[in-house]
Amino acid sequence: MVVCLCKGVADGAIRRAIRAGARTVPDIGRACGAGTGCGSCQNLLACALRHEDLRRARPDVPAVLAAAYAPLQPAGAAPGAMSGVMPGAMPGAMQ
Ligand code: FES
Repeated sequence: MVVCLCKGVADGAIRRAIRAGARTVPDIGRACGAGTGCGSCQNLLACALRHEDLRRARPDVPAVLAAAYAPLQPAGAAPGAMSGVMPGAMPGAMQ
């Protein structure tokens, strides 16, 4: 999925930049160009940095998330299936 529209950079390239050593949003920009245009994607880049930090610190995160989302699964949903509802999301808040 393209994250940075200005530079046409997809999430995979951003993840690779972070895994190759990018630790800040400007680092990501230097590595793949993301965030170096209008800047509107920089919050997403910061989220990607936090996600990769969490992934490194807690390799069990997928299991933790599956457990956290389990109460939100519709009856009969496959284990680990995501319903698209975020914990704490307010229904109707973002239509
Ligand atoms: S969308 Fe990434 S810099 Fe504009």
